[in-house]
Amino acid sequence: MTSLIIPVDSFDYVVFGGNGDLAERKLLPALYHRDLDGQIPADCRIIGASRTAISDDEYRDFARKAIDTFVSTADRKPEAIERFIGRLSYLQVDARSDDGWDALKARLDEAPPERIRAFYLAVGPALFGDFAMRIRQFGLVNANTRLVVEKPVGRDLQSARELNRIIGEHFDEQQVFRIDHYLGKETVQNLMALRFANMLYEPLWNSAYVDHVQITVAESVGLEGRAGYYDKAGALRDMVQNHIVQLMCLVALEPPAAIDGDSLRDEKLKVLRALKPIDASNIEHVTVRGQYRAGASNGGPVAGYLEDLGEPNSSTETFVAIKAEINNWRWAGVPFYLRTGKRLTQRMSEIVVTFRPIPHSIFGPNAGHVQQNQLVLRLQPDEGVKQWLMIKDPGPGGMRLRHVPLDMSFAESFGVRNPDAYERLLMDVIRGNQTLFMRRDEVEAAWEWIDPILTAWAEKDVKPQGYTSGTWGPSSSIALIERDGRTWHEPE
Ligand code: BG6
Repeated sequence: MTSLIIPVDSFDYVVFGGNGDLAERKLLPALYHRDLDGQIPADCRIIGASRTAISDDEYRDFARKAIDTFVSTADRKPEAIERFIGRLSYLQVDARSDDGWDALKARLDEAPPERIRAFYLAVGPALFGDFAMRIRQFGLVNANTRLVVEKPVGRDLQSARELNRIIGEHFDEQQVFRIDHYLGKETVQNLMALRFANMLYEPLWNSAYVDHVQITVAESVGLEGRAGYYDKAGALRDMVQNHIVQLMCLVALEPPAAIDGDSLRDEKLKVLRALKPIDASNIEHVTVRGQYRAGASNGGPVAGYLEDLGEPNSSTETFVAIKAEINNWRWAGVPFYLRTGKRLTQRMSEIVVTFRPIPHSIFGPNAGHVQQNQLVLRLQPDEGVKQWLMIKDPGPGGMRLRHVPLDMSFAESFGVRNPDAYERLLMDVIRGNQTLFMRRDEVEAAWEWIDPILTAWAEKDVKPQGYTSGTWGPSSSIALIERDGRTWHEPE
């Protein structure tokens, strides 16, 4: 099957933190893929920038290595790689001083003045303000400038507000693209297609027909050398405040009038504002914190969190489970069970919508148990959608029922490679399409829900419970859902 690739307008991408981990693992491979597919016009340039002194050639070698490591063999086409490498250059630029900024301006000014300029801040949030200020101060902003900001946007409501304020001093909200890469995942966008391009689901998408929703983002990896950041963040800030809350919003939102930036984001905001507060009064009942201990992962023994961290103590959670509720007409009484963790049994992310039981079974006891319908949206590792239904077991011998999935596994059904989320998002930045990016008020509303959880954990001294690496987390997370007579969806 061929896919329709529409080239974007010419642009220059400046990647601050251009020789960092994110650029290496995600940004350069994603841009390469878009180039390989013919989406990037011939005159576009990619400029890596950071404080490190490296030459253009060294930067190109860095990019070659990134492609070798993070692009599949089948997609590594020598001609395409050389074309892509030819777009790259590097400049030494310091966020905290004036060094390098004139050179960057001169480089950008070589292009036509109205060309799209995207500045990607692949750096820690402590530098967002300095970069935003200097990009503006050195006259780098033209009529088509976009600023791309990576998470974390703050570590609580107050710091998020402050970051947004600083960015807002130098850029209009229409120029700011706050990345949550989960929104670029194919299945997440498919959730919008399923809900709003079919008549089937929407009439059932409410508390009358939906029993509960589960959102799991399980990782098998541990700290991955990010101890400094992670130990200060923890799973609630790292995964729930952004990725999981965003997924919950997309499941729960009212139909927007159009799929454009503000229509969708207005609806997400309403969900965020309807979230039932979690505070000291209910914290112990509806949340679980965990921290991994030594165990096994990917077939081998692995160390515990404290050992990975190299510290004797830490009360940072690497696992969190939450029973969330949305106080509005559509969702009142429908729990959204959320969980995420590192060093779990396997890498697996999914959204599961479980419908209510049928009101009455006409089939006798020999037919078997009539199970509840489930819609399973798998984000990873293999993206796809399964709608579980009851059907008759084929053949003679009476009526026996069977639970079977209608399977829409993307890779198999469409015969195409699943693009990485960053490919879609990096091109949306160029198109100026903000739909899949977080708006300022959304980020702050998410923190408004998260902050009291952090406060209540501290107030009630809720410590993370240990769980063995390679399991599904602390046993209390099983109890969290089983208390309600439900179970976590077992991955197949
Ligand atoms: C990042 C988190 O935002 O998402 C990481 O900071 C996490 O801790 C990662 O590992 C997971 O992303 P993905 O796309 O691999 O599920």
